[in-house]
Amino acid sequence: MTEHIKSERKDHVLTLTFARPDKKNALTNVMYGALADAIVAAETDKATRVIVLRGEGDMFTAGNDVGEFADMATGAFRGERHVSRFVEAIARSTRPLVAAVQGRAVGIGTTMLLHCDFVVLAEDAQLSTPFVNLALVPEAASTLLMPLRIGYARAYEMFALGEAMDAKTALQLGIANRVVPLSKLHMEAAMVAARLARLPAGSLAATKRLMRNAEVLTAQIGAESECFAARLQTAEAREVFTAFAEKRPPDFARLAS
Ligand code: COA
Repeated sequence: MTEHIKSERKDHVLTLTFARPDKKNALTNVMYGALADAIVAAETDKATRVIVLRGEGDMFTAGNDVGEFADMATGAFRGERHVSRFVEAIARSTRPLVAAVQGRAVGIGTTMLLHCDFVVLAEDAQLSTPFVNLALVPEAASTLLMPLRIGYARAYEMFALGEAMDAKTALQLGIANRVVPLSKLHMEAAMVAARLARLPAGSLAATKRLMRNAEVLTAQIGAESECFAARLQTAEAREVFTAFAEKRPPDFARLAS
């Protein structure tokens, strides 16, 4: 476990907290590794009946660490990419996954919600998937799950334009179950988790298996990962990451010449 992921188990509920608030809980490879290990271990741990995902500070997460994207693009990053293990873990988990989201949920911060069974949003929550803005493609089976959840037109707009969706809209469109005042967010998520933890776990797991085809989801994740890796090597992506490091907007026009 890394210092940037806090893990606490109480009354059969495992709470995993993204704890890198100074970087807006941007997720690093090490953090994905810790999350994946915890979620996979919970699958065979009778003491864990429900998993809660949440973030410290003023936002859920700013998504993947952009610096690590840049390292992948330049080849500076080597080794196993734990993000794939994390995404597969949430796609395959039969434990109820509850998310508590305040502020921004960027990129994987939003796409992971499509694998959560119960999503509680604070009133200030803003969901966005700006993968195309980063010259990448959406991941975590979101190219399948998002159009299924909110319809093709809205999903395309969300992916292509990368604009944020507010909490009220996310509730209306079926991405979330509840919107609550920020001060009540963690209490509400804990109440939902406690309620789920009292239900027959075998029945909940079987219901989830019937509702979500893990094989279909992991096949889509595989296709997305291949495309994502190829996109990371493009001049468009390099321009994005250079621009982020230089704290300026990317300029795609200069690539066209
Ligand atoms: N990866 C790495 N570092 C990140 C990050 C990310 N995804 N998001 C934020 N940070 C860092 C910033 O670089 C900054 O670091 P610094 O203090 O060392 O300069 C710190 O977190 C605070 O971020 P800041 O941009 O000042 O906060 P903000 O509240 O003004 O804006 C965001 C928050 C999320 C809107 C903005 O940080 C952002 O757009 N981040 C990138 C999101 C993104 O593209 N994620 C990938 C999705 S696929």
